[in-house]
Parts: sequence; structure tokens; C-alpha cells
Amino acid sequence: MSTFCVELKKVVDDTYDVEIGYGLQDRLLEDLADGLMGKLRKCALITDSTVQKLYAETILEKLKAAGYKAEMFVFPAGEKSKTREVKAQLEDAMLAKEFRRDCFILAVGGGVVTDLVGFLAGTYGRGVPFINYATTLLAAADASVGGKTAVDTPLATNLIGLFNQPRKVYLDIETWKTLPERQIRSGLAETIKHACLADREFFDYLDRHMEEILALEPAACDHIAEANCRIKYEVVMKDERESGLREVLNLGHTVGRAIETVSDYQLLHGEAVSIGLVAEVDLALSMGLMTQAERDSVVALLKKAGLPVEIPEYIDREALVKKLYTDKKVRDGRLRFVLQDGIGNIREYEPGVYAFPIEEAVAREIILNIS
Ligand code: GLY
Repeated sequence: MSTFCVELKKVVDDTYDVEIGYGLQDRLLEDLADGLMGKLRKCALITDSTVQKLYAETILEKLKAAGYKAEMFVFPAGEKSKTREVKAQLEDAMLAKEFRRDCFILAVGGGVVTDLVGFLAGTYGRGVPFINYATTLLAAADASVGGKTAVDTPLATNLIGLFNQPRKVYLDIETWKTLPERQIRSGLAETIKHACLADREFFDYLDRHMEEILALEPAACDHIAEANCRIKYEVVMKDERESGLREVLNLGHTVGRAIETVSDYQLLHGEAVSIGLVAEVDLALSMGLMTQAERDSVVALLKKAGLPVEIPEYIDREALVKKLYTDKKVRDGRLRFVLQDGIGNIREYEPGVYAFPIEEAVAREIILNIS
């Protein structure tokens, strides 16, 4: 018998731009004309039933007018659509329209759209390139940048997916104007998370300018879009695959993801993360990593943003504790939490490890005591 070595050392350049601005549809068309997608002339535009009428139809018309063979594929808006089943339906629809490997995909929408499309693009025909055109603050703050793509399962959120980087990301601040206020607030949870983990000055900015942010004043929107992007890409550039540092972006998400699922998606992602941030600062306080004043100022900022800081009555707290074990950070059956060190820093557990093993009894105590 023989053994062959299949040498496949790879050098990959997944570099891409994130463009922040207002009404970027024409910028997208200019980039395509300048060769963003090479010779590909076939585009599957995927969006949800809310964004379809607001922005996607206009973009589709512009693509067609520019000579692209473009088709739109629409799924029902909401986190409950972020499933393997909806992904399969979209794939079947694309196959029926004769999309093969000679296409690119354009995701137009919020985090559900960009997460689902990035995963679909990574497996369609074994991989076709894609672009994210983000139309929500949540997608701008987090989902559309960094290449984490996934669908949810009945067990938990984001368990099945790929790291798959887009060719370009457009963060269109103009689109935030059509978001319901609840969605703006939800996006602010990821924004506050970024400030908590990386930037005390940004935290103070959010505290001072929350009214302007909620009123979507352009200077405030520009500032938060740029700060979110900078904080996120600096982490992603150092640790794309979450072998260490990227875990810091999971601040507030151990409890956040679990509560989102246990609420059966009655809580928006950002609302669940907000409650998760409260659990995490309570834990950091109990471990001496934060002062009472620091803990209180995080909770006060979340409240100022109109985010929930308490676990709703209808949530079964024991079910929530059990659900914590579906977190991807669990190692050897042990819960792990990312913890703040004051405001604007993360505490390293040991060199290169950013999540602390936490006993279930300690996590339960914190969860039972969030009032
Ligand atoms: N949303 C967390 C991350 O991108 O790593």
C-alpha cells in the first residue's frame, strides 16, 4: 500500500472594502462596472419581504438597466426565516432559474439576510461570490462585516454556517430612516457592546449623544457606523476564525443567544444581547473585574437606548440556564463567558484566551437575580 501526500498549502487574500455612506445603490453599480465581480453578469439578489419594496426592487431595476441578468429571490422577513429550510427553498428557486456557478449573489437587507445569504453563497455550486448591502443598524454594526454566516436551528441560533467573506460591504445609513424604532434600539445593543469591549471614549460618546443617535442625526449616525466598523474589523483582521481574540465579540452573547431562542424570537437579537450584557456585567462585578459604578453605567446606557435590562416574566429561567450549553464557546461541557475589565477592555482569562470558564451554579445565581 502507498501513501500520497496531497499538498494544498493555501495563501488566501480575502481583503474587501466596507463602504459607509448614504444611498449607495449607484456606488454599487459603479463598482460593478469597475469590475468588482469580474466577468460575472448574472446576479441573484436575495432579500426579505420588508426590504423588497423599500430598496431591493430599485437595485434590481438598476442592475437590469446596466445589462445584468438579475433575478430577485424573496423570503419572509424575520429571524424565524433564518433556517436551513428557507436556505434550501432559495437554492431550489435559484436552480430553477438556471443559476449555476456563473453568478454572484447580492444580499440586500439586515442581519438575517446577510447571515443567510453568506452561508448560501458559500455552498451554492460549492461557492459563489457575494456582496452585502446592509439596510439595518444591526447589520451595519455587526452582521454584515466579518464573514460569520449561519442559520439557526430549533436548538439554538447560528449553529450551522461558514466563515465566508463578502467581496464588498455597503453600509447605507440612509436606509436606517425606514427602520422601526425598535430595530434601531436593537442595533444599538451591538454598538454598546463594541464600546464596552474596546473603547471607553466611544462609550462616553454614546452616553452623551444618545438622543441625537435615536433621532438619526447624520453626524451621530456617521460616528457610530465608523466606530462599529473600526472596532469590529480590527478584531476580525487579527483572528478571522475565532481561534482566540474574536471571542471578545461574543460579549453579552452567551446569555443573549440563549434568551433569544428561549423567547422563541419574541426578543430581537439586540434586545437579547442587552439582557446578556447585564448578566455579563453582573458577573464581572461579582468577580471584581468591574466596580459597582461601572456596572451601573453600562446598565444605565442600555436603558438610555431603550433596551431591556431585565429578563421578561414569560422566560423560564431554568430553561434559559440549560440553553446556555448550546453556546459555541462551551468547551468540555463547561460554560464560558467573555468578561469586561472595567469599561472599554476585555479581561484575558489566560494568554490568548478571552472567555472564562464559569460554574453553572454561578451562572444560575446571576440569571436568577437579574430583576
Ligand atoms: N458577531 C460576532 C462576530 O462577528 O464575531
